[in-house]
Amino acid sequence: MSKYTEINYTEFDCDIEQNLRPVSFDGYIGQEKVKNEMQVYIKAAKKRGEVLDHALLYGPPGLGKTTLAGIVANEMGVKIKTTSGPAIEKPGDMAAVLNDLDEGDILFIDEVHRINKTIEEVLYPAMEDYVIDIVIGKGPGAKSLRIDLPKFTLIGATTRAGLLSAPLRDRFGVIERLEPYSLAELTKILERSARVLNVAITPGGAREIARRARGVPRVANRLLKRVRDFAEVKFLSDEIAEQTAQDSLDLLEIDRDGLDAADRRLIRAILDKFGGGPVGLETLAVATGEDAGTIEDVCEPFLIQSGFLQRTPRGRVATPLCYERFGFK
Ligand code: ADE
Repeated sequence: MSKYTEINYTEFDCDIEQNLRPVSFDGYIGQEKVKNEMQVYIKAAKKRGEVLDHALLYGPPGLGKTTLAGIVANEMGVKIKTTSGPAIEKPGDMAAVLNDLDEGDILFIDEVHRINKTIEEVLYPAMEDYVIDIVIGKGPGAKSLRIDLPKFTLIGATTRAGLLSAPLRDRFGVIERLEPYSLAELTKILERSARVLNVAITPGGAREIARRARGVPRVANRLLKRVRDFAEVKFLSDEIAEQTAQDSLDLLEIDRDGLDAADRRLIRAILDKFGGGPVGLETLAVATGEDAGTIEDVCEPFLIQSGFLQRTPRGRVATPLCYERFGFK
């Protein structure tokens, strides 16, 4: 089974546009610092006729790391092959993926922090010297065979930069952190997405969805599609106006702070079952029936940023704001 997917961004421009992902920096809204820096590195690499340095993109889920990697490939005019940390199970898998690259290709590894240590060791010489060392045989008679690789760029994406080992992190020449989007940026993204989806939206409608999208384009685009469904079927409207957006999002149980049912379940559990905390992650996972990883990576970052929740060495604790908002003293 193939361990990666090859995407030719230049051939499939239209499909990807339909998929709401911009294919060039022109269509990519926000992340100005990352965008400006990457544009400089791309220009410089192209001017020198070199491959782009290896780049690590990190930040919470849904902020556009994969989209950005696709744009970089498109702007460099190269192919991108994508795989993910968990898909690479053995050092041999990693060697096979690397051996299949062509000169200049981008190898995109999502969830790069989930690559284990023995596999990482295949990556080090590949990233540094564009070679892989393969050991043939076992014991004293074992021989090491060195294979040259074409020059390539590794783009790693992770939600957990802290989990990357120092030797791997140090081999990325470019490290960029993606930030949550502002309300104005999300509104623009939604207006662009509405054009791609061919649905009419008023500025107020876009702002209302943006307000509840917790700074994340993936969430905003998902809400847009669901609101479109409600607008068409329940409100018999072919335009998403502010009131339609509000009513649809209320029906979807996304509140004015962008909290969804899972967030509220988590907060209710902390307040009602554990006296506001501290309570450990695993206990919360059992109490809410939610996966601990989802709680940690998806729910908690937003609840912490919003000031509802605190992580302490003894566990999760509800803040005074949380008590105030959810009606407890
Ligand atoms: N869709 C997802 N992320 C986007 C971004 N940053 N700009 C435009 N459209 C997007």
